Amino acid sequence: MTKISIKTSRELNEKVNGDYYRLKYHLMPSVGFLNDPNGFIQFNGEYHLFYQFNPLYPKDKMVYWAHVKSSDLIHWSMLSPALCPSEWYETHGCYSGSAVNNNGKLTLIYTGNVKNELGKRETYQCIAQSIDCEHFVKYKNNPVISNVPKGYTTHFRDPKVWKYDGLWYMAIGTQTEKEEGVVLLYRSEDLLAWNKIGEVAGANINGLDYLGYMWECPNLFNLDGKDILLFCPQGVEPKGDLYNNRYQCGYLLGKLDYKTGKLAYGDFIELDRGFEFYAPQVTQDEKGRLLLVGWMGIPEEEDSPTVKNNWLHCLTIIRELHIKNNKIYQNPVEEIKLLRTNETRYDNVLINNEQIKLDNIYGDCFELICDFSWENVLEFGIKLRCDDKENEKTLLYYNTEEKKIILDRCKSGLSKTGVRKCEIEKCKKLSIRLFMDKSSVEIFINKGEETFSSRIYPKKESKNIFFYAKGGIVNVNIKHWNI
Ligand code: FRU
Repeated sequence: MTKISIKTSRELNEKVNGDYYRLKYHLMPSVGFLNDPNGFIQFNGEYHLFYQFNPLYPKDKMVYWAHVKSSDLIHWSMLSPALCPSEWYETHGCYSGSAVNNNGKLTLIYTGNVKNELGKRETYQCIAQSIDCEHFVKYKNNPVISNVPKGYTTHFRDPKVWKYDGLWYMAIGTQTEKEEGVVLLYRSEDLLAWNKIGEVAGANINGLDYLGYMWECPNLFNLDGKDILLFCPQGVEPKGDLYNNRYQCGYLLGKLDYKTGKLAYGDFIELDRGFEFYAPQVTQDEKGRLLLVGWMGIPEEEDSPTVKNNWLHCLTIIRELHIKNNKIYQNPVEEIKLLRTNETRYDNVLINNEQIKLDNIYGDCFELICDFSWENVLEFGIKLRCDDKENEKTLLYYNTEEKKIILDRCKSGLSKTGVRKCEIEKCKKLSIRLFMDKSSVEIFINKGEETFSSRIYPKKESKNIFFYAKGGIVNVNIKHWNI
């Protein structure tokens, strides 16, 4: 690792930790840049999670795998970085990948990224193993896949590996020479020798309208009896309320043919409707739960007030996935309740064409549940992180004519602006569960039917919460916990 003096390191720590926007219960880098979650796994009872980490940010780029572990998915301890670029096949970063239990050994599969003397990209798929779950040894004959198959470019990365019927399978994100995003499936008996099976899905294949020039960070898994390909296409055009972020994240749901590698699928569905959500990774834990963690950031979007304090980005809280009506539902894991303190509760509050504030309901780190019901109302919602004059506010509201839930961060504070909307079919009831953490908000609508994950940068004094209704009456049950 690059050495820095003790004095510089102390100054850096003070700068980072003095930043109000540091999060209280989300994973973030101790210093520097965080992006994709990697290697998410429960191994011998403990959860291990890694993430793409550039400690030198914003000065230089060097990509490591940071490593944290937890017994409850809530309280994490930091271990030493698991992978640092040290070999010829990873000179420009240990890029994203996954983890498996290989005969009792925690094993990482990742992409070695190289920029050669001509400035051209080379990519190598590699493995590393650990006996103590902390120190990883790179395989002496790495890379285990050193060639990009014919017809594809060197945008070939992010191996996600799992076992099925006694064999190892790998989904890998890539691009055809015609610049269309694709996910390929590989198979291996021992994690060392890999054979390409075929294309799982791709932009312009099987009736998908053009869905981008590159597909990153694939996950291929079975959930409640359905096979799902979750991935991040780059180059998808916005379509109404959909695909409004710079890069997208969504899934295809269907049936995977393990012999041909093909997935028979339906429509592409965006996974999260907020401003910042990318490169999620899933794992199945020992209880059989399908867990997901995402990056609350978007590649190439670095306009954040935290950059001047030498850190950027965070991960989402851990979510549990289920399928309902052919759609992925996401909810925070049960363990999130460990964070709750000081419950405040209001039942059957009637809001009649007015705006109200309730005792004890305010803050910048909290969980809030609101169950709304109505007969006749035009619009109702919650104003979060407001200053007294509402010059600053983050709006979350439902419009009954449009039947849309709307997150508006135009006045949320520094840097970020814009609106995200999402249609919700339910007519007379709406449930909102949200998690505020200093500079992030994660919103779960109707018990996981839709989610919005976003960063906001309000002033620390902006802690008011208001509830309002326009054009009628709404009834709401409210629960609030400080975190
Ligand atoms: C996605 C991504 C991956 C790559 C990693 C590099 O954000 O571009 O495709 O492995 O980040 O940090």
